[in-house]
Amino acid sequence: MEKEIVVSGIRPTGNLHLGNYYGAVRSFLSMQEEYNCYFFIADWHSLTTRPKPEDIQKSVRTILVEYLACGIDPEKATIYVQSDVKEVLELYLFLNMNAYLGELERTTTFKEKARKQPDNVNAGLLTYPTLMAADILMHRAVKVPVGKDQEQNMEMARKFARRFNSMYGVDFFPEPESFSMSSKALKVPGLDGTGKMGKSDGNCIYIKDTPEEIKKKVMKAVTDSGPVAPNSEKPEVIQNLFTMLEIVSAKDTYDYFNEKWNDCSIRYGDLKKQLAADIAAAMAPIRERIEFYSKDVDLLDRIAKTGAEKARESAAATLREVRGILGFRK
Ligand code: TRP
Repeated sequence: MEKEIVVSGIRPTGNLHLGNYYGAVRSFLSMQEEYNCYFFIADWHSLTTRPKPEDIQKSVRTILVEYLACGIDPEKATIYVQSDVKEVLELYLFLNMNAYLGELERTTTFKEKARKQPDNVNAGLLTYPTLMAADILMHRAVKVPVGKDQEQNMEMARKFARRFNSMYGVDFFPEPESFSMSSKALKVPGLDGTGKMGKSDGNCIYIKDTPEEIKKKVMKAVTDSGPVAPNSEKPEVIQNLFTMLEIVSAKDTYDYFNEKWNDCSIRYGDLKKQLAADIAAAMAPIRERIEFYSKDVDLLDRIAKTGAEKARESAAATLREVRGILGFRK
């Protein structure tokens, strides 16, 4: 049987942290084993916020390096850069002809961006969901691994697919289903004692961090003054450290510190030292591969080129059909 097609776009917004790794990236790793995956770096989407020209290539490379280092395998998945596959623009244009101002204006991501950058409420921002739909429909994908924040964009993609099919009386685009990553994803807590790990100082360990950097950050993680009674419930700041142990350390290690917590003999300094060492050990092979790929720009370019060729093949086949359906020369 043909493998089902999966598409996901990654915005090039800096380095991956542990939250990304144990969440989205690990779902990608398991998906590439089972599906026909297209993972791409959404560099055109990033234009909506006017990045500096000198930063574009750099941030694309960073993401490419880090995804490869995490184990995205170009032999299994097609990994490419959005701007290398111009076919998407043609589909974007076609879809835009049947995307209505009202529905685009109503999307929360648009409203939010418009509020955040009132001096730059551009048409690209407005039609962000159309470009995203084109990314997906171009490969006739059936599954799209995305976070919850992308649900509305996914609904738009489904709506555009349905609209195209019914307008032209065809059954051409499948309705792409959101593939929730949150069921399998491990939620990595932040180091500042609140919420999950995100890109803010003091809250975040990057996969590229050296053991020294990791240790420094972990040692600074927020704690309290210690348990007051045996077997008490852990407050969030402490639970967070234990959750991290659960993710990166051996079960024995977790049990050891858990007992120490329960009998009130825990020393947070010891726990943190162990945690830092275990994070560093878990990330060591990834960090090595980051170094390997960063040094070999030619290899990166070859990988991106091969990925683009495969993506273009799939896109070109779709576009030929779409042109025919719309009445253009194929
Ligand atoms: N909008 C997505 C995000 O912000 C990125 C993205 C662009 C995407 N095109 C896509 C995700 C297509 C899935 C499929 O994270």
